[in-house]
Amino acid sequence: MPSLSRPVPVARLHGPVEAAPAPQAAVVTPTPAAAENDARLPLIRLRALNKSFQTGTREVVALKDVSIDVREGEILGIIGRSGAGKSTLLRCINGLERPQGGEVLVDGTNVSRLNDAGLAALRQRIGMIFQHFNLLSSRTAFGNVALPLELAGHGRAEIEARVSELLELVGLADKHDSYPARLSGGQKQRVGIARALATAPRILLCDEATSALDPETTRQILALLGDINRKLGLTIVLITHEMAVVRDLCDRMVVLDQGRIVEQGPVAEVFARPQSEVTRSLLQDVLPDLPAALAKRLSPVAQPGSQPLLRVRFSGAAAGEPVIAELARRFDVPASILHGAIEIIKDMPVGVLILALPATTAQPLATLIDYLRERTTSVELIGHVLPAH
Ligand SMILES: Nc1ncnc2c1ncn2[C@@H]1O[C@H](COP(=O)(O)OP(=O)(O)OP(=O)(O)O)[C@@H](O)[C@H]1O
Ligand SMILES: [Mg+2]
Repeated sequence: MPSLSRPVPVARLHGPVEAAPAPQAAVVTPTPAAAENDARLPLIRLRALNKSFQTGTREVVALKDVSIDVREGEILGIIGRSGAGKSTLLRCINGLERPQGGEVLVDGTNVSRLNDAGLAALRQRIGMIFQHFNLLSSRTAFGNVALPLELAGHGRAEIEARVSELLELVGLADKHDSYPARLSGGQKQRVGIARALATAPRILLCDEATSALDPETTRQILALLGDINRKLGLTIVLITHEMAVVRDLCDRMVVLDQGRIVEQGPVAEVFARPQSEVTRSLLQDVLPDLPAALAKRLSPVAQPGSQPLLRVRFSGAAAGEPVIAELARRFDVPASILHGAIEIIKDMPVGVLILALPATTAQPLATLIDYLRERTTSVELIGHVLPAH
């Protein structure tokens, strides 16, 4: 794969739009000194965003009091169910939606104060890719990637060099002249990525970029995004409804539900200690916990002969410790593992176990739970179950 660490210098890509007098836009491409001063500031700062849509007499709240910081060079995943407000949030970042309340700051620029020229300049610094690729069917791969450069007024020779470099970068050097109809889904998304990178943006927004792709192609596209992030230092904000995408690519994550943030933090931490019901339910896809057949037999209260069921989450060093064996040895409590799943996230093991304790134990249940709690990430008593006969 060719070097991406040598993108076309920003100065060469300044087209007439950015050269036009747009005072706010100037802040979007700061001088190196200003960038250095701001190194500790987040590149994208969303403050108390509120956005509603009026449909007929009904008001739909798409974003409610959303505050997020995105640091330079990180990959932030925003996950939520359909209608959670993910696309609206992403569109606020590049000014395609205007929130009714709150602030969007991109590299210190207040996006809602930008005029049209300022917005056009901002969007040159922010690339975007989509679920359905949004390629022009009448243009070849080359023509699609060239489009943003043509719009910015670059010369033919420069465009040809830059587009060739980009197509090579995304692994499509041999598809210059192919039309989208002749490309696979993964190849189309590669063209989408090359097009998004054409103006050498510092930020890439991805709206369900892999949702239309099969699992293997998804893995390849995520690997490409990770590669671009590392080589170019590109900041990526990615929205998805799949935990696997967050697990495979992101550094930090935000969980949105009905327009509100219900959880945020480093991916491994959220996987290890999910706080909200929505997160737990989304996690089921990658760290399945309670099998349905078991859930059906669960009772909230103990019954004669029933066994307490514990959900034990563990991460990092705790994953390697013989906690269950210790429980048996120390308290003479043989816990049975009814279900278990483990994932490696950024080299850290994160897992969940469903344990059934014996119906009667010498020690109170609370003592056993406390013992486990000290040695694992979290322990919940999820109910009581009668042994299956
Ligand atoms: N232009 C619009 N007009 C009216 N309502 C809208 C508009 N855009 C979004 N909404 C509503 O705002 C809410 C959030 O929509 P949004 O598209 O941001 O969700 P999402 O999380 O991206 O969902 P999905 O995963 O299905 O793409 C939804 O209830 C949606 O119907
Ligand atoms: Mg959406």
